[in-house]
Amino acid sequence: MKITVFGTGYVGLVTGACLADVGHSVVCVDIDEDKIARLRRGEIPIYEPGLESMVLRNVEAERLAFTTDAAQAVRHGVLQFIAVGTPPDEDGSADLQYVLAVAATIGHHMEEYKVVVDKSTVPVGTADRVQERISGVLAERGVELAFDVCSNPEFLKEGSALEDFTRGARIVVGSAAARVDELMRECYAPYNRNHEKMMFMSVRAAELTKYAANAMLATKISFMNEIANLAERLGADIEDVRRGIGSDPRIGYHFIYPGCGYGGSCFPKDVQALSRTAAKVGYNAELLEAVEAVNRRQKTTLFDKLSAAFGGDLQGKTIALWGLAFKPETDDMRDAPSRTLMESLWSSGAVVQAYDPEAMRECRRIYGERDDLILVADRVQAVRKADALVICTEWKEFRTLDAAWIRDQLRHPVVVDGRNLYEPEVMRAAGIDYYAVGRGKTLAEVTA
Ligand code: UDX
Repeated sequence: MKITVFGTGYVGLVTGACLADVGHSVVCVDIDEDKIARLRRGEIPIYEPGLESMVLRNVEAERLAFTTDAAQAVRHGVLQFIAVGTPPDEDGSADLQYVLAVAATIGHHMEEYKVVVDKSTVPVGTADRVQERISGVLAERGVELAFDVCSNPEFLKEGSALEDFTRGARIVVGSAAARVDELMRECYAPYNRNHEKMMFMSVRAAELTKYAANAMLATKISFMNEIANLAERLGADIEDVRRGIGSDPRIGYHFIYPGCGYGGSCFPKDVQALSRTAAKVGYNAELLEAVEAVNRRQKTTLFDKLSAAFGGDLQGKTIALWGLAFKPETDDMRDAPSRTLMESLWSSGAVVQAYDPEAMRECRRIYGERDDLILVADRVQAVRKADALVICTEWKEFRTLDAAWIRDQLRHPVVVDGRNLYEPEVMRAAGIDYYAVGRGKTLAEVTA
């Protein structure tokens, strides 16, 4: 099947590579000439396990091509995936200018029937706007051509995107035409082999499904963070509570890990966008607002604990930081809790000495060279001559920690763990002031 994918960002690239890998003929198109030139040279702009080799082998097999030539790209596929960015605008709504620009491009160049597939996460009602935009351009051209627009949201997690694409729980298609359903079924047939994963529904239901899924997951996390904060104040260990509630199959163990707040490209943006969508239809989404507020506050807890441990004075202190990415197996620092922490530390005159297995280049790109940011080659160098250690990301290599060793490295035996990686008793026995989330030493103990 011939497929065109607009946008070679995270979603577009994964979609294009995976669809080529099962034998489709895929053309990925982007307006960024430099990016396309690099992709043609085999340089993959993002870190995603398995993606580079998948792209290379499909380019080699001539099933996957990259171009900036929109006319040729539109001619190529019967399916035209739109996978361009929808960044938040000033009020947190998704900015649709890139999606609508692609719609116009398709309208401008199409010469026969096309199915336009919204893959980007877009507010409910966007498919209608894409439809209008294409119709408008066709009218300007004075041609009458049939096309359909459908919604096919992605549920990819960074770090396991290929696995999620090829073995996802469901393939949601929102459409209003049997012809579209047939073509989408053909497109995804290689991934729909052992049991029926395709779910056909209305366009609006598909659009809302994407937001509802992310908002539900974000809600679980914020809920758990709230209970963890309570547990600290009530003298309970959140790990016991987590196991206690997770064992109920109605609740389940997934996404109830308390931490230093969710980040990444989806949850913060999507929860906010759904709130704004609600407001636009006159509904006050109080729960969503609270989910967001709790998360914002959660990201400040690492700094609060650290600051309390040093009596409110971090001036001139060197703080070791393990983990910059918003989660392991990615170099993505969008809305990462590490950023909130670093920015607060810098405001209080502290120096950050950080290590992350993948995100250091990204960190440099965001913050540039500065005296109060030292990026080091490994976790050991990060703690050398540091006053305290903070953990922001649960990379595997941070999971083991020799408590006595870390105590001897640090000038002050203070460890603030935003991911609950260690046992409070072990740390306490080694003489470490160990602050975690909903367990370990609490702020109340410090201020008492
Ligand atoms: C998420 C969704 O999982 C995915 O389905 C959607 O398509 C895009 O958004 P992603 O942003 O890659 O994927 O990361 P995910 O693994 O879901 O983690 C999101 C954030 O939640 C991370 O910051 C993570 O640390 C945090 N998290 C997750 C918790 O704090 N506790 C948990 O129990 C789970």
